[in-house]
Amino acid sequence: MTDPGAESPQRAGYAGWASQTDIRRRAGGTRSSQTIDTSDPIQTLEIVRPDDWHLHLRDGELLSRVLPYTAERFARAIVMPNLDPPVTTVAEARLYRARILAALPAGLDFEPLMTLYLTSSTTPDEVEAAAASKLIFGLKFYPMGATTNSSQGVTGFEDLHPVLESLENSGLPLLVHGEAIGPEIDVFDRERIFLDETLRPIIERFEGLRVVFEHITTEEAAAFVAESPARVAATLTPQHLLLTRNAIFDGGLRPHHYCLPVLKRERDRAALVAAAIGGDSSFFLGTDSAPHERAKKESACGCAGIFSTPIAIEAYAEAFHRAGAIDRLEAFASFHGADYYGLPRNRDRIRLEAVEWQGPDTIGCGNRGLEVFWAGERLHYRVASAAQGRRV
Ligand code: DOR
Ligand code: ZN
Repeated sequence: MTDPGAESPQRAGYAGWASQTDIRRRAGGTRSSQTIDTSDPIQTLEIVRPDDWHLHLRDGELLSRVLPYTAERFARAIVMPNLDPPVTTVAEARLYRARILAALPAGLDFEPLMTLYLTSSTTPDEVEAAAASKLIFGLKFYPMGATTNSSQGVTGFEDLHPVLESLENSGLPLLVHGEAIGPEIDVFDRERIFLDETLRPIIERFEGLRVVFEHITTEEAAAFVAESPARVAATLTPQHLLLTRNAIFDGGLRPHHYCLPVLKRERDRAALVAAAIGGDSSFFLGTDSAPHERAKKESACGCAGIFSTPIAIEAYAEAFHRAGAIDRLEAFASFHGADYYGLPRNRDRIRLEAVEWQGPDTIGCGNRGLEVFWAGERLHYRVASAAQGRRV
């Protein structure tokens, strides 16, 4: 199997991976209903290199398989801590970061920005240690039972007020998987209920707390973030900008379109696109790329998660292109997140070419294969080259 990270993007070009032997193409694919704005005149687009502000890199062999796809494209990524067992302490995060750097192919320049997994045992001292470490960039809140490896998540914030106060004082953001969980809660209402019952009160009570409402999926969440102070931000995934829940049932059950929070309605998708292209710096790129091997997706009880990294930038470009707003991509992909996290914007650039193409379907083979988001669908932009080190 060819290692996609074996060559640096400078030598191979960003497009190089598409012809490698471990990537297979398959005819067909799911239909999409949106119309393309063909009046968009831009042929090539050079943007500052993006960062991914929400990413699952996994560990061990899977980490080695997926990391090159991120490091070839993104300069930095906020790395989610939902390993098994989860990353709950600064010491564990330091070790995980070292494993990521050890798995990084030579020649690729990539900075993992680590996070801690909030549990009911997290202490204010750990938060202070996290802030002092300069390695940790946020604490991730998973509601217990909400998603992959969330069994050690928390059921509510009631007992965590001292930790939230410590977070508020530290300036580290709380990264929120915003779903209310319970047998009585409809899966499509989880985000809205969480927003009303949990998130709003917390943001009102802790007036200095910085919060990233991760992978938002609803019109209500977009409106909430837009009307909140600048300390409240949101990440947006490519799948929630491009697809609705119909995609999960398009001609049959489509496990590769299953992620959490689950895809929503067209009016939600349209509101998320409006937020992404609207220029509001509270909204930024976070792929939530979450690889699971094929056997774990195509199963009687398939895992939630969409692996989008290999075509993520192009998929965002597709959403912006369809909205006639490709000129807004750079701020969303490369400026807003860095500004929110108080980090310098990247200095190097990538070039996107306006060309119609189909991305790879699969990385690897058989049950171990990783299905790539947007398989079989056309894309209208393609990352073509990088020019490192150029000043912006
Ligand atoms: O779809 C998802 N997959 N949502 C999450 O919140 C977790 C992620 C994963 O880790 O697989
Ligand atoms: Zn995630």
